[in-house]
Amino acid sequence: MSKTLAELRSRRWFAETGMRGFGHRQRMQQMGLRREDLMTRPVIAIINTWSDLSPCHAHLRERAADVKRGVLLAGGLPLELPAMGLGEVMVKPTTMLYRNFLAMEVEELLRSHPIDGAVLLGGCDKTTPGTVMGAISMGVPMLFCAAGPMLNDRLVQGGVTRQVGAGTHTRVFWDEYQAGKLAEADWVAMETRMTRSPGTCNTMGTASTMTAIVEALGLALPGSTSIPAMDSAHPRMATDCGQRIVAMVWDDLTPQRLLTRGAFINAAVVQMALGGSTNAAVHLIAMARRAGVALTIDDLDSVARRVPVLANLFPSGDRLMEDFYYAGGLPALMQRLAGLLSLDELTVTGRTLGENIAGAVVQDDEVIRPLDRPVSASGTLAVLRGNLAPEGAVMKPSAADPRFFQHRGRALVFDSPAEMHAACADLELDVDENTVLVLRNAGPVGAPGMPEWGNLPIPKKLLARGVRDMVRLSDARMSGTHYGSCILHISPEAAVGGPLALVRTGDDIAVDVAARSLTLCVPDDELARRRATWSAPARPVTRGYTRLYQEHVTQAHEGCDFDFLQGPGLSPEPAIY
Ligand code: FES
Repeated sequence: MSKTLAELRSRRWFAETGMRGFGHRQRMQQMGLRREDLMTRPVIAIINTWSDLSPCHAHLRERAADVKRGVLLAGGLPLELPAMGLGEVMVKPTTMLYRNFLAMEVEELLRSHPIDGAVLLGGCDKTTPGTVMGAISMGVPMLFCAAGPMLNDRLVQGGVTRQVGAGTHTRVFWDEYQAGKLAEADWVAMETRMTRSPGTCNTMGTASTMTAIVEALGLALPGSTSIPAMDSAHPRMATDCGQRIVAMVWDDLTPQRLLTRGAFINAAVVQMALGGSTNAAVHLIAMARRAGVALTIDDLDSVARRVPVLANLFPSGDRLMEDFYYAGGLPALMQRLAGLLSLDELTVTGRTLGENIAGAVVQDDEVIRPLDRPVSASGTLAVLRGNLAPEGAVMKPSAADPRFFQHRGRALVFDSPAEMHAACADLELDVDENTVLVLRNAGPVGAPGMPEWGNLPIPKKLLARGVRDMVRLSDARMSGTHYGSCILHISPEAAVGGPLALVRTGDDIAVDVAARSLTLCVPDDELARRRATWSAPARPVTRGYTRLYQEHVTQAHEGCDFDFLQGPGLSPEPAIY
């Protein structure tokens, strides 16, 4: 399949012979561009999620220049378009509220401008699914260029060296600091030094999970998502992206030609082998629905049951993304998983996944483990169901204490994060290590935006006793860098009347990971009585984007996309008069 010059989408703007075409060409020449370039080259958008408030993307203006070089070398015309940066740590109340905003922005940027193909620059958590979802819906050839992970850090204490990973160790050190086990000077020093360079979190958090998933889907160049942001291979990779997208335009290699069910199952296999973030369960389903592929959380559970965790990376293991790169990166991991993958899936290279990874070799068996010596056989994801989660809930057994895989305990319920934090700081709180902490009204509609509040803090009283994990339940998400026996994404959420809304402090809750069950041990007639008196919590924000979000967001098991954006329909071409 190949496209002619006359078939380029940008020709509708630049080859138009009337007054409108005159204006389009005139205004581009106003910026110093040459008329002949507008008329003869495919126009490539570089969607750039750089911002001064997105530290993980601090280098993306330089990378945009590297992509431009590649586009020019291949005979294209590169144009940079800024999009919402979504720096994970800075954006409040949560970047998840704005994932769909970014997806809409990317779709509309591509739709409303004379664009033939796109390179998506992102990587910090929601920027990956957000940009990809929008580009899928637009349907022009696109290629994802990942920001890459930041450099490793380490802490030397009393002659003992510890690997330090962004996100994961923030929580580890905070708990140690709270319990009086970490000196104030070390705590302050880590704040200054722990994130040593631009780039995404260097653990197997949501950023590394989602960029790897996008590569496994066939939407990124082989090996590209494992390259550290500050490695000289990174700008070369960005140039390769620019060069390749031009060929993809001529070949009309659209995402719709790449995104099959097999590609999504490949992505799930990779997620599980990486010990990837639970957040991927939401994003994978959202992306699949945009591509018209039926994918459910039960599909993910079934993949998780057969794929062990092979990547020895925080929070499931004890290494960092730089180590993963040295060990061969994602192509090496996928070569090790070859028997579990659909190798015939087409990718952005124009070749199959199997062809892309042929010859990849694992360089370090401690970082990428063999199948018969996994980091964890417990699995990356378990989908639990029961009267407390009729549409499912997720947990990450590989990052949880196995003691809690079968557990029954008394619920301690919080209706808001403020109530939860105040209670957990109370040294007189009525709680012990068997208590099940419950946070509700933290889901897509309730919070709103389903923030990463699901790693509920261990009460200070228990931290002092050395407790570092306990069962925690919520309709929120959890950072992919975090760990613990946290049961998340309970669906339907409390704010829309899910059974989580009916739990009371003192009720018993039973968890059985092997049986995939989550049970509120309260008789049905009592639950019916409680439901009869339940009313939905107030929604204080009544205007703007947040209102649109609360009215149209779907539940966690459906991907949290907007109901009017799901589905395989492509964005319509704009009228040009
Ligand atoms: Fe950007 Fe973790 S904060 S990837």
